[in-house]
Amino acid sequence: MVVLLGCASFFALANSLMTVEQEMEVASKIVGPIKNDDNCESCHALETEAWQNTRHFATFKDRHRSEEAVAILETIGERSMKRADDCRQCHYTSEVKNDKLRASFGVSCESCHGPARDWLALHSKAGGDTAADDLKWGTGKAEDPMAREKRLGAAQAAGMINSEMIYDIAKNCFGCHTVPNESIVNDGGHKAGSDFDLVAWSQGEVRHNFSSSAGAPDSPTNREATAEQRRRLYVTGLMVDLETSLENISRVETRGGEFHKAMIARANQARGRVDAVLAATSIPEIQSGLAKVTANIDEGATVDAATPMALGDATKAFLGNHDGTGLSAIDGLIPTETKGNPY
Ligand code: HEC
Ligand code: HEC
Ligand code: HEC
Ligand code: HEC
Repeated sequence: MVVLLGCASFFALANSLMTVEQEMEVASKIVGPIKNDDNCESCHALETEAWQNTRHFATFKDRHRSEEAVAILETIGERSMKRADDCRQCHYTSEVKNDKLRASFGVSCESCHGPARDWLALHSKAGGDTAADDLKWGTGKAEDPMAREKRLGAAQAAGMINSEMIYDIAKNCFGCHTVPNESIVNDGGHKAGSDFDLVAWSQGEVRHNFSSSAGAPDSPTNREATAEQRRRLYVTGLMVDLETSLENISRVETRGGEFHKAMIARANQARGRVDAVLAATSIPEIQSGLAKVTANIDEGATVDAATPMALGDATKAFLGNHDGTGLSAIDGLIPTETKGNPY
């Protein structure tokens, strides 16, 4: 298999810790899933339909009106969820309109795959050559492997996070789903993250594997991830959960606060699950990455910023070296229930 390793994830910043300037830069590159010219829907109709059946889509229409949202906004002295920087960066995809940021959609394609303006014209063309013809939708996985690698490599260099870049996608998921904003958790009473497992949460309502399904391009189905893919997703999810939780602990301001406690619990839970993986099978890359982390974090522990970075490197090394075939010993650990139902 072709493993495309992500470089230091440039667009993993697509979450709430961006400055307004960074958010502007991201927003200026948003193409948009629907409504706009060149939108994703114009070629990816099925993926878009599936997305329109998720909470990521619905949050744009209903979340700002919910009682819980109004309560959080009141506590932190904000009035509009779509205008408050602190909410907009996680619940919405923003565009730049009249030099201002405007929330335009819920969490959408580009929240996970990277802002598309610079890669849109490359990612659908044979060999990534802008002068070439567009490929037919649903034929990408059947393409000559060299041509595919060249096409996705060119798009990746321009900021695309493709479906094989699991580490970078996971960084984006956890960048929002651990809720790294200490103040909205401590002061606003926002939930301190989701009880998130990468397999369970990506293989339910979020799943949209139409283009590589057996029937594509003519009678596509929403293919399940293979057993090998699930193993890679599972280990990656645990490692990125641990990495992100430790990153959040490394910059904590109020020790013993709600946020700090929640991140400690997250880190310890993820660590326990990684240890269970390693008890079932040997993964040297992960083992050596973990050597730098204290087994049990408590409120007195300090975490320096280099620790989560080392874990990130270990996860990338794991993905580079394992296609999932040798990891059947962990199948019993992987959740089978999904979050929401696939479309
Ligand atoms: C002009 C048509 C067109 C538009 C517009 C378009 N795509 Fe694509 N896309 C394609 C084609 C063609 C492929 C490759 C063939 C395949 O696998 O279906 C592809 C493949 C992809 C892949 C899979 C690559 C991989 O294997 O991981 C992703 C992800 C993707 N597009 C995301 C998007 C997003 C996000 C947008 C909107 C910002 C978008 N596309 C807009 C035509 C398009
Ligand atoms: C770091 C990302 C992030 C930021 C910033 C953020 N949210 Fe959220 N929010 C989430 C996630 C993730 C969930 C889903 C939590 C879950 O799994 O139940 C969520 C859920 C919610 C919910 C539903 C809670 C419930 O009880 O079900 C409300 C209300 C909400 N957010 C309001 C806000 C408001 C208001 C702001 C701005 C002050 C905000 N959020 C900022 C990520 C964020
Ligand atoms: C830009 C921030 C962001 C990113 C990136 C993101 N999410 Fe979310 N996600 C949210 C928010 C916010 C909600 C809650 C929306 C609401 O209920 O208002 C949510 C909700 C969900 C839900 C529905 C949960 C429920 O309680 O029904 C699932 C499933 C989900 N996300 C999976 C994922 C997966 C898998 C990834 C990565 C592949 C991901 N998310 C990436 C922000 C994000
Ligand atoms: C919550 C994050 C998230 C969102 C939102 C999202 N994707 Fe994806 N996308 C993923 C993940 C994760 C995969 C790889 C899934 C797997 O291997 O099971 C993927 C895979 C794909 C693929 C390859 C599918 C295949 O058959 O291999 C395409 C094409 C794609 N996405 C397009 C889109 C488009 C278009 C949108 C918006 C309509 C979108 N995605 C929205 C996370 C997301």
